[in-house]
Amino acid sequence: MNKLIEAALAAREQAHAPFSHFKVGAALEDENGRIFSGCNVENATYGLTICAERVAVFKAISEGARKFVAIAVAADADELTPPCGACRQILWEFCGDVEVTLVNLRGKTETFGLKDIFPRPFDASFL
Ligand code: THU
Repeated sequence: MNKLIEAALAAREQAHAPFSHFKVGAALEDENGRIFSGCNVENATYGLTICAERVAVFKAISEGARKFVAIAVAADADELTPPCGACRQILWEFCGDVEVTLVNLRGKTETFGLKDIFPRPFDASFL
């Protein structure tokens, strides 16, 4: 199993999901091979919940990483779980057309470019 997928699966174990019980892990790899992982962290007000993908991105940015090559997202679902709209926007802004790999606990995977699931994005080039 590749390192990034393993890191996403391990991060999922840390998920704080007492409301949805839907645990997600993400692992983001930068250009130097450093891996930054994250899990979803839910909140009693629901709306303040943050997804695993954004936790991974913000951890990476806060630790100085700037260029990214791939992200893996792990969840326990037969149908592989894609990033939500908010995460797609954040991923696009910080990572560009990064390679996205989805994985479940049974080892099913699918990989695509972020552009394929986030066409015609708004970003700083419009400002
Ligand atoms: N969630 C993620 O962390 N990433 C996704 O790609 C989809 C959804 C989380 C948010 C919330 O804690 C739970 O999954 C249910 O929506």
